[in-house]
Amino acid sequence: MAVAHQQEGGRAAIADLDPQGSAVAWHHFRDGEPPLVAAVHPPRLGRSLQTFRSRDVSLALIDTAPHASAGALAACRLADLVLVPCRPSTPDLAAIGASLEVAALARADAAVVLNAVPPRGSLAVEAADAITGIGARVVPVTLGARIAHVHAFTLGRSAQEYAPHGKAAAEVQTLYRWAFTQLHKGGERE
Ligand SMILES: Nc1ncnc2c1ncn2[C@@H]1O[C@H](COP(=O)(O)OP(=O)(O)OP(=O)(O)O)[C@@H](O)[C@H]1O
Ligand SMILES: [Mg+2]
Repeated sequence: MAVAHQQEGGRAAIADLDPQGSAVAWHHFRDGEPPLVAAVHPPRLGRSLQTFRSRDVSLALIDTAPHASAGALAACRLADLVLVPCRPSTPDLAAIGASLEVAALARADAAVVLNAVPPRGSLAVEAADAITGIGARVVPVTLGARIAHVHAFTLGRSAQEYAPHGKAAAEVQTLYRWAFTQLHKGGERE
């Protein structure tokens, strides 16, 4: 999504709050090419976002650790939109409840995005029903399980750069568009 923003002429930055540092690793594989990626200690998140702003960053993405940590609460408090990625599997569906509670505590606008959905079968529909059943919002764009994401990551690329005409690229672009529209709904946010 950060790359999608860059490709539109925007300036994106990613704050990597996850000690595992996947976004930072991706940026290394990318030889530091934009978007900007910074490893951020959760208590310093507000300051990092200010730094991004002073560098004319027009879209900041915050990647949190997988569990509902204190960092996740800090991120939810500062975010205009919270996306909770979830695979259509029982363990993932069981885990999102805690993340959604953190988002609710922060009074954040949150929605669950189904990721790595198998190309065939009804898993996505069943998962979406389960999520709606617990009163959560489901993003109307799902990301399929696509090998392009795996190859792209290793090369420090996005799916759009690795295979611009592929399905993975189209799905990410659609998700980005949806999220961008949410952020600018009513024009009250920058
Ligand atoms: N839609 C997808 N299709 C195929 N592979 C995917 C997809 N999404 C993620 N992956 C792969 O799964 C692995 C983990 O992905 P990712 O780091 O995005 O997960 P994560 O949810 O952030 O993990 P964690 O919760 O541990 O931070 C990566 O190798 C990534 O390429
Ligand atoms: Mg992660």
